[in-house]
Amino acid sequence: STVSDIRIYEVGPRDGLQNESKFVPTDVKVELIHKLAAAGIKNIESASFVSPKWVKQMSDGTDVMKTIKRSPGVNYPVLIPNLKGYETAMKCNIEEVAIFPAGSEGFSQKNLNCSVEEGLKRFKEVAVQAIKDGLRVRGYISCVVGCPYDGPIHPKGIAKITEELFAMGCYEVSLGDTIGVGTAGSVQRLMREVLNVAKPENLALHFHDTYGQGLSNLLAGLEFGIKTVDSSISGLGGCPYARGATGNLATEDLV
Ligand code: HMG
Ligand code: MG
Repeated sequence: STVSDIRIYEVGPRDGLQNESKFVPTDVKVELIHKLAAAGIKNIESASFVSPKWVKQMSDGTDVMKTIKRSPGVNYPVLIPNLKGYETAMKCNIEEVAIFPAGSEGFSQKNLNCSVEEGLKRFKEVAVQAIKDGLRVRGYISCVVGCPYDGPIHPKGIAKITEELFAMGCYEVSLGDTIGVGTAGSVQRLMREVLNVAKPENLALHFHDTYGQGLSNLLAGLEFGIKTVDSSISGLGGCPYARGATGNLATEDLV
């Protein structure tokens, strides 16, 4: 890949801010989204519609999505856990949703309060409805190389979930190293397995930079022809249900 081929999928306003302990006011979130669009970013994940009991920081998703001024040619996807979140999001003029099954049982229980299989069933309901409504659906898989509860994750299981997400109609699947424990070697093993079931142009890579390996892990992935990279402005981010998860790969480092 050359730099000009790379599609940046910015997750700062969602993955970046969801982990902040102090509530970030809605107008600050909106301003961040406006500044990212002004900087030329074309894909900005802007909110999530998860349970406010689980992630209070994202509880103003409706206000964020109703307040932002949308720039032409910019995509503003939102993260959706279930049909309830989907119905709320649909009142905000949404064009793309992201669903997020876990790659491990332990993380699925902590993050979604259900098994991987049950999570896939719920996400399928969302995907089916969203596609019927004419939306694009993106799939994430979290903990693709390691889980804070289950340890190392075998790539075969991740390839299977990838297949299921494409079967549900996802246009793209983002492989998430949620806690940033990947290495160039584990990323290569993952890519070899997942590329048995997917084309590189339909995959994205989502790294957290816990051990400073984000860019080298990314390079390992780019060598397999990956064109879409998730990153977060100034490396903000982490998941409240993944102990030890630090920030995402920083967008400015990626650029
Ligand atoms: P649950 O407690 O099992 O759900 O949570 P429930 O159906 O029993 O509902 C509990 C309460 O939440 C009820 O309210 C529901 O109405 C409400 P009550 O009756 O008690 O008043 N509720 C909702 N409210 C608003 N919007 C909704 C919604 N759903 C239920 N959508 C659930 C299950 C999935 C909802 C919960 O576990 C949840 O919200 N989890 C999301 C956690 C999260 O946001 N994690 C961070 C994002 S994932 C991530 O960061 C990783 C990623 O970046 C990839 C990577 O890094 O690798 C994507
Ligand atoms: Mg993440």
